[in-house]
Amino acid sequence: MAETGLSDEMLRRLVHAFYDKVRRDDVLGPIFEARISDWGPHLDRMVDFWSSVALMTGRYHGAPVPAHAGLPVEWRHFERWLGLFRETAQQICPPKGAGHLIERAERIARSLHIAVRNAQTEKGAVPLLR
Ligand code: HEM
Repeated sequence: MAETGLSDEMLRRLVHAFYDKVRRDDVLGPIFEARISDWGPHLDRMVDFWSSVALMTGRYHGAPVPAHAGLPVEWRHFERWLGLFRETAQQICPPKGAGHLIERAERIARSLHIAVRNAQTEKGAVPLLR
């Protein structure tokens, strides 16, 4: 925390600002709106997620892979997601903290993309772990 300058409060601001942009995005917005009717719990879950990833608080206990496996997305959607995430992290966090979050987001996006692709290819798909 000391090294990255990140705090829970900052992650909360980041998550809220990021999903404000996502919801207004022409491509990503409709994909999220089709799945999320109550944004409060989703935003709380995402603050817990980033708090676990960046501050090692262990507050997130969900399963990101099955949550994304059925989504109608390709790599270009992840690129767009990452573009908005990079922009928001750089606006809200100090450079070291933003760099840390962006690196983690890029890695997780790649794993989620592999999981989505795998779920989309019925033949030989590896079953999801829940
Ligand atoms: C193409 C880009 C993405 C789209 C369209 C997307 C969409 C969604 C949607 C619709 C949900 C809610 C699922 C539900 O409750 O039914 C969700 C949950 C979530 N997303 Fe994404 N997502 C994307 C990329 C990412 C990335 C890159 C990360 C991490 C760096 C991420 C982390 C999460 C997490 C942690 C959850 C909560 C899962 C749970 O515990 O239920 N997403 N996402």
